[in-house]
Amino acid sequence: MNKQAIIDLVNRAYRGEEAKLGWTTEADLLDGPRINESLLDEMLAAPGAAIFEKRDESGELVGCIFLRPDGPKLYLGMLTVSPKAQGGGWGKQMLYEAEDYARTQGCNRIYMRVFSVRQELLDWYYRHGYRFTGEVLPMINDVRLGIPTQDLEFLILDKWVGGDEIDLRDEKYLNREEVLELYEANHWSSAKKPGQLLPALLNSHTLITAYQHGKLVGLGNAISDGHLVVYYPHLVVHPDLQGQGIGRMIVTELQKRYQGFHQQMLVADGKAIGFYKKCGFERAGNTEPMWVYLGDEH
Ligand SMILES: CC(C)(COP(=O)(O)OP(=O)(O)OC[C@H]1O[C@@H](n2cnc3c(N)ncnc32)[C@H](O)[C@@H]1OP(=O)(O)O)[C@@H](O)C(=O)NCCC(=O)NCCS
Repeated sequence: MNKQAIIDLVNRAYRGEEAKLGWTTEADLLDGPRINESLLDEMLAAPGAAIFEKRDESGELVGCIFLRPDGPKLYLGMLTVSPKAQGGGWGKQMLYEAEDYARTQGCNRIYMRVFSVRQELLDWYYRHGYRFTGEVLPMINDVRLGIPTQDLEFLILDKWVGGDEIDLRDEKYLNREEVLELYEANHWSSAKKPGQLLPALLNSHTLITAYQHGKLVGLGNAISDGHLVVYYPHLVVHPDLQGQGIGRMIVTELQKRYQGFHQQMLVADGKAIGFYKKCGFERAGNTEPMWVYLGDEH
């Protein structure tokens, strides 16, 4: 790899007048170069980190992408196409090749950070299957990355590349329509109170969501003081996918966070009682479940 050629390509595509020839750029958001040799060396020093190059038929360098395995996830960064070659499909090609690379590295998810103000770029990633995770990070304070000309923050996007497997997420982000569809399919009364349901779920101590092929198929939440007591109010799996282990996966994921807590509580009835027994719960001694309840399904 010719490091200087990569540095030149990235800086031309991200910053300065030439960058403005492309369909998307951050040239108006930051001054100074996007990368220098010390930053590139640091990026490449991480275990498994690699830069892949794209060349046109004449052998000219037209694009590059940085990929770094990070446990079960693959970090994607510095996706670059030279301004005059943009819009020709190179970017898309590298985006999809990153998915193949992720699988060869045993990663089932690709993540990246994108400036929140770059709507056209965000829309492009959304069109190619990425989603906002709900995580927002401040701009990194490192002059080697450039000097912001305005306040900047990153949105963290990711994409599941693990095929049919269930994608379990621990994130405070929900699509209202998907949640209502899931609750309505299960005839849960809280579906009639979307104004409360969505903020309630997002306000949970932990919210675990389950997706398949990018569609919400289940969720479970926990309310807790963070030390002694946890209560699990909701666990719901789409009726078409019940009985396939998704509920168990969600409960296991939730319980990992509350192992050793003095009290893990929930209320269950009907078939759910047997299910929760399998998950390690038992009848709560000689206590009686008591509540003030405004629903009508129990
Ligand atoms: C982002 C980037 C890597 C994309 O690469 P590319 O080769 O231009 O992308 P492609 O040709 O594969 O795809 C172009 C897409 O942009 C769309 N597009 C083209 N012009 C557009 C415009 N003016 N506004 C919005 N979208 C536009 C095309 O419709 C196409 O969308 P599709 O994939 O849904 O069909 C490239 O533009 C780039 O290097 N930009 C500067 C560096 C940068 O910002 N990198 C991203 C950092 S996170």
